[in-house]
Amino acid sequence: MSNIHAIILAAGKGTRMNSSKPKVLQTLSDNTLLGHVLIQAKAISQQVHVVYGFGGDQVKQTINDDSINWVEQAQQLGTGHAVAQAAPHIEDDSISLILYGDVPLIKQATLEQLIDAANTSGVALLSVVLGNPTGYGRIIRQNNIIQAIVEQKDANAEQLNICEVNTGIMAVNTQLLKQYLAGLDSNNAQGELYLTDIIEVIVNDNKTIGSVVTKDEFEVAGVNDKVQLAELERVFQKNQAIGFMQQGLTLKDPSRFDCRGNLSFRQDCEIDINTLIEGEVSLGKNTTIAANCTIKNAKIGDNVIILTNSVIEDAVINNGASIGPFTRIRPQAIIGENAKIGNFVEIKKSTIGKGSKVSHLSYVGDTTMGDDVNIGAGVITCNYDGVNKHQTIIGDGAFVGSDSQLVAPITIGKNATIGAGSTITKDTPDDQLVLSRSKQIIMKSWKRPVKK
Ligand code: UD1
Ligand code: CA
Repeated sequence: MSNIHAIILAAGKGTRMNSSKPKVLQTLSDNTLLGHVLIQAKAISQQVHVVYGFGGDQVKQTINDDSINWVEQAQQLGTGHAVAQAAPHIEDDSISLILYGDVPLIKQATLEQLIDAANTSGVALLSVVLGNPTGYGRIIRQNNIIQAIVEQKDANAEQLNICEVNTGIMAVNTQLLKQYLAGLDSNNAQGELYLTDIIEVIVNDNKTIGSVVTKDEFEVAGVNDKVQLAELERVFQKNQAIGFMQQGLTLKDPSRFDCRGNLSFRQDCEIDINTLIEGEVSLGKNTTIAANCTIKNAKIGDNVIILTNSVIEDAVINNGASIGPFTRIRPQAIIGENAKIGNFVEIKKSTIGKGSKVSHLSYVGDTTMGDDVNIGAGVITCNYDGVNKHQTIIGDGAFVGSDSQLVAPITIGKNATIGAGSTITKDTPDDQLVLSRSKQIIMKSWKRPVKK
């Protein structure tokens, strides 16, 4: 079988985006529009050629992929002209697959069908039937065989009634493509070289055009403005959510679930509404995530409960732990088995031992905490002296009374008890009670001030 070359047209500015970024760099989920197309193109072809124009440096820099053959189209003289810039870089004995940098949801299986059809007939077109075909090139058929494509601006009244339209995506034998591109002219309403004009010429040479008609209008939908971008984002998220549910994930409402990255999970996990998953996230068995959580790059174990409005980033949560509500777990936090991190607690770059509890209103940073520690409400590790960060070590079984400050660097002994309201600045021994408070006194002569 001959090599496949993908040619991705990406020269357009995308004026309607009203953005400083070229259109193909707008993001859908966690990737650029062009990035989505590249994933499919690379999976199916031996070589990818991207035709760029507006904002070329920015596109090349952002995509940052040396395997791509970048082809400049300085002036946009039409889709035929764009393809003609790439064609000289491609060997005759191959199939050229024409894709668009702003059509991000194209599916692998459809492209495979198209390539199969092109292998049989030399050229194959992907079309779709739309309720409203306005703006698109119409597919002209006779006895069900494709005869030509007529652009909206060049179509007569009868042709405008045709609902089958050209998606622009096609696969063509490269030798044929080169031959027919050479014959294109700009004798049309837009004064452009239309790629679509090769179809009629090929038909006139008594060749049959292969045809694939997709039933999924979204896989061939282009993105021209932020409204269409948001529409395709929803489609993408819905498809992804359906996939997850089919693999056994319970989503309370798939239309209120977003994953911009990769989520893996074991059996019986459940995610409530408005949760956002980013980066690489894995969930163990029987783990539940309540409403309104954001979880990015996290490894979460079995039987973990994440309560509402929690934010977790670059962290590990081990089996049986409970997080939230309103907890912030920051990078390099490792939460031990069956540990409990409660409301308004922030944990950063710290290890929390098995069964330890930080239940209310605490900041724990740069800390190594043993097992079965109890941290009272409002305890703060003072890890920063204004210049450097320092470590706190808390031994197994320690009890730190509410509203205490542990001024790092500091070590709290095993089974030590810190009296509530203490500011601890020196290491404390194992098994002892330590406190630092002024004595409680009664100010006998004091009277409440009276309003003047
Ligand atoms: C094109 C097709 C039309 C089809 C429609 C589907 C032609 C002549 N018409 O029309 O049949 O229904 O797509 O959306 O092909 N581009 C370049 N360089 C250029 C011109 C275009 O890179 O010189 C890129 C654009 O950035 C865009 C894509 O090609 O991503 C399509 O170009 P556009 O001018 O929008 O074509 P349409 O008029 O929509
Ligand atoms: Ca278009």
